[in-house]
Amino acid sequence: MLDQLEQQPADALLALIKLFNADDRADKIDLGVGVYRTDDGATPVFAAVKKAEERLVAGQDSKAYLGPEGDMGFVHALVPHVFGPLGDFGGRMDGMQVPGGTGALRIALALAKKAGVGRVLMGNPSWPNHVQILNDLGVASANFRHATPEGVADMEALRAALADAGAGDAIMLHGCCHNPTGIDYTAAQWAEVADMVATSGVLPIIDLAYQGLGQGMEEDAAGMRAVLARLPEAMVAYSCDKNFGLYRDRVGALFVIGKDSADTARAMTNAYVLARVNWSQPPDHGGAAARIVMEDEGLTALWLGELGDMRARMRAMRDALASADNRAPGLGLATLGEQNGLFSILRLTPEQILRLREEHGVYMAGSGRINIAGLTSGNIGRFIDALAAVAG
Ligand code: LMR
Repeated sequence: MLDQLEQQPADALLALIKLFNADDRADKIDLGVGVYRTDDGATPVFAAVKKAEERLVAGQDSKAYLGPEGDMGFVHALVPHVFGPLGDFGGRMDGMQVPGGTGALRIALALAKKAGVGRVLMGNPSWPNHVQILNDLGVASANFRHATPEGVADMEALRAALADAGAGDAIMLHGCCHNPTGIDYTAAQWAEVADMVATSGVLPIIDLAYQGLGQGMEEDAAGMRAVLARLPEAMVAYSCDKNFGLYRDRVGALFVIGKDSADTARAMTNAYVLARVNWSQPPDHGGAAARIVMEDEGLTALWLGELGDMRARMRAMRDALASADNRAPGLGLATLGEQNGLFSILRLTPEQILRLREEHGVYMAGSGRINIAGLTSGNIGRFIDALAAVAG
């Protein structure tokens, strides 16, 4: 039977990791996959997480199963950070632990499918795994342009997409730090998004994978909360991979908000079935470490401080690129200072992206997406020189 299977291309972004590792140039620059790096180019374990892991290892007396919902202490500890004053929506919200943001999205979209969703509206470009999951589930997507060439959200395109959609459809929204463009809605735009989504009756599915890496923990959740405050139903796919640096431990949560607590509880029974058939029960270690951080005031302050340092470093790299706009005109560097998070897209042709890789050892996604955190005070000058060389 196995000879019936067609060859699949390697995931382009993950393949880039291998290409980068195989390059023996000492001054190569990795702006590919979205992991945070320090100014030394390292992706260390958060100090707060290390301390929590020490406590976890010392105190853990069993690794017996917890159930398909995972560590509910972890899920409950996230709630104030994610939803703030909305709390548990008066009992209309429930959540579960899942393996990473992808696990959350998988269950959210499979739940939407089970509930009979029509199309899932999605700004284009989006994180490539969104459409891959939809395709795998056999759920239709409908694209609208996420951003204008000037580097701001394309509200006209969003209005048209929502005018053409209705109850029975869903919309995928990036809560903050839009992947891949870095172009988030402003507060005023989020207010309009909330209005339009409420009027149209579509179900919002909000991907919040970078909370704290944009403007701040509260600031990065504010737009999402404005939408959730207006809507009877929604789902939030949350990832701790980036804001706790727990990438390979696969830590995330799915939150479901229903019209009433009975609807939510019934939806959750479906989510548990979906978890059971996908991974049965989520891995524990990373979620338990994140819980220990969030349950301890001192560790929470340490964690939020580390997150603040990451944010400040990325902001400095963004500002440095923006002020180098005249060195490589036409690539859109000037707008990077207003964008958020790990990613932005440079207006590069496929040939320029290839030249950057082959001639300058600069690795980025084929879309022209760069991981801002791959830039350091040691390599940003060389990166700007390389951009100037290919742009000229
Ligand atoms: C990215 O977009 O680089 C990250 O979200 C990592 C991933 O899994 O693609």
